[in-house]
Amino acid sequence: MNEAAVLSAVRLLRAGKLVGLPTETVYGLAADAENPEAVAQIYRVKGRPLGHPLILHLGDATWLSRYCVDVPGEATLLTERYWPGPLSLILKRSARVLDEVTGGRETVAVRVPSHPLARRVLLELGRGIAAPSANRFGGVSPTTRAHVERDLGDDVALVLEGGPSEVGLESTIVDLSGAAPRLLRPGGISKEDLEATLGRPVLLDDGTGPAAPGTLESHYAPRAKVELVAEEGLRAAAERCAQTGRKAGVLSATPRPFELSSDVNWEQAGPTAEATAHELYAALRRLDEAGCAVIFASLPEATGLGRAVADRLVRAAADSDRR
Ligand code: TXA
Ligand code: MG
Repeated sequence: MNEAAVLSAVRLLRAGKLVGLPTETVYGLAADAENPEAVAQIYRVKGRPLGHPLILHLGDATWLSRYCVDVPGEATLLTERYWPGPLSLILKRSARVLDEVTGGRETVAVRVPSHPLARRVLLELGRGIAAPSANRFGGVSPTTRAHVERDLGDDVALVLEGGPSEVGLESTIVDLSGAAPRLLRPGGISKEDLEATLGRPVLLDDGTGPAAPGTLESHYAPRAKVELVAEEGLRAAAERCAQTGRKAGVLSATPRPFELSSDVNWEQAGPTAEATAHELYAALRRLDEAGCAVIFASLPEATGLGRAVADRLVRAAADSDRR
């Protein structure tokens, strides 16, 4: 591990600057969570509306007592099983948590990332780090250092090199601040796994409860229009599109077919849900860079990690319908 880079990152964070931080889910745009000006800077750089709360990253589960109150037993069950890892919990906040982090809510989202660089920075800093995904608001989350540099340029003082993010999709968010656990965002830990650990159902967010503020508006969307098509129909749909003179992209679980029209860019992300999650955002970015007008993608089965992949693709498609 690059110790000098870790120390520079910590120095910058202490000085109120923003740092691009690799995590196992996606790269984050990190600020000292106890410095209100630094946290406000995150919103400016991202172009994120105020009131979209941030995730507070902790170095260790023992830090929970600093930032949260009334931590229920179910939170301990989950943190013992999944932390460090891609799971964020919504818990009641302590007075130490800034309004800038929670958007003034009485709850805060917390997680302990497992990426060794992220943990080193947190433990060296000794305080929580507020970090959203390090992309401009509404866009595709970054899973490499180069993605962050391309998206945010000079607006970020330093981006640590942590390799491609292992999971490739944002953390699962579970709300434990109410009577029953609710899944606010599917992600790196599956609903089925959570239910097995808790021994009771995790409610799905059906739009009637307290949705993760901002999840509806964060579309995870590439520039190209995204169209959802059954896996068997991907090739034909893309070739039809290309015949009309529009460059077509395909995001498929299967390899590029032989004799594919040269106007079609084919990205394989799969065949497993883990592989799809890992490659999804990088593949969407490559198709955007290739100048595709439309990206045809098929939805995986919505179980395990496939639920999170399907969630992001459905949002991306819904977003491009609105444009
Ligand atoms: O994997 C991840 O979670 C990444 C990495 C960097 O850790 N971070 C991330 O942050 O995805 P962001 O800001 O892109 O998404 C945070 C989500 C938002 O949808 C927000 O609404 C929700 O967390 N959230 C934060 N605080 C909340 C709260 N108190 N109640 C409900 N939802 C909350
Ligand atoms: Mg985000």
